[in-house]
Amino acid sequence: MNPYKSVTAFAPATVANVSCGFDIMGFAIKGIGDKVTISLQSDIPDSPVILSGNYGHLIPSERIKNTAGVAVNAFLKARGNSQLNVRIELEKNMPLGSGMGSSASSSAAAVFALNHLLGCPLSVSELIPFAMEGERIACGAAHADNVAPALLGGFVLIRSYSPLDIISVSCPDELFCTLVHPHIELQTIDARRILKNDISMEDVVKQSANAASFMVALLQNDYNLLGRSMHDLLAEPKRTQLIPGFENAKHNALNAGAIGCGISGSGPSLFALCRSELTANIVAKEIKKSFLDAGLESDTFISSLNAPGACIVNTK
Ligand code: HSE
Repeated sequence: MNPYKSVTAFAPATVANVSCGFDIMGFAIKGIGDKVTISLQSDIPDSPVILSGNYGHLIPSERIKNTAGVAVNAFLKARGNSQLNVRIELEKNMPLGSGMGSSASSSAAAVFALNHLLGCPLSVSELIPFAMEGERIACGAAHADNVAPALLGGFVLIRSYSPLDIISVSCPDELFCTLVHPHIELQTIDARRILKNDISMEDVVKQSANAASFMVALLQNDYNLLGRSMHDLLAEPKRTQLIPGFENAKHNALNAGAIGCGISGSGPSLFALCRSELTANIVAKEIKKSFLDAGLESDTFISSLNAPGACIVNTK
């Protein structure tokens, strides 16, 4: 017996990679995300996803092409519940190709709502693999650095993909993120295609050293070390060419007091880590101004690094 007929969940935007943690680090952002309502229905099985919100008209409604639909199907299949007929309504509030984990927000909200509808048979961590299937359909790679923080909230480190081993890391409360989304679209699939497949041993050593020292810095509140660790040798060198004004924006963010600054996920958004909310706001203005100089309007978001993950917003 299911406790509800209908459940609505929200899942937040996320910053993935965090400069030195390509595909293995990410954190949730407060205040922006998608909403998904899952209801038990008795009409057409596998019916299309019902889309609304500012960006709903831009994504496919066919379940097998929609990240929320794919995640729901993966969940039902794994639970031996493929026969269960559910309606999926997606309020798509997040811009596409933004680098803010838009597709992850949809799939995380979908599996979170479905789990609740079924009486929470799984833990939140156990939902991650289903949401990852949404990422596979969105960009060809089932990476977890957006879906894991979107579900769990806060900062996560993915130690291993096979088997999946995800660690939640608590961050200093005074640490804030500035996230700036310039108004261009960059598809993750394209931003992944341009990456090098062969990385030199020297770069592997530098990247692992920075990732390790970044984690130590977070745990020890060592902001100088945090800043020294925020270098990306894998994705940023290739992806900056896709983001007009990137170098200038990063330079100005650091000058305005950011601890470090880099590409959020696969871009085009930029994120910066700052030691207070006040600095985060000053840095946001600088990055926004830099994008304007490059001819781009942008939206800014400020968030703690301990922002909550997916949550239930309505039940019937
Ligand atoms: N780690 C992924 C990438 C994140 O950089 O391709 C995509 O948001």
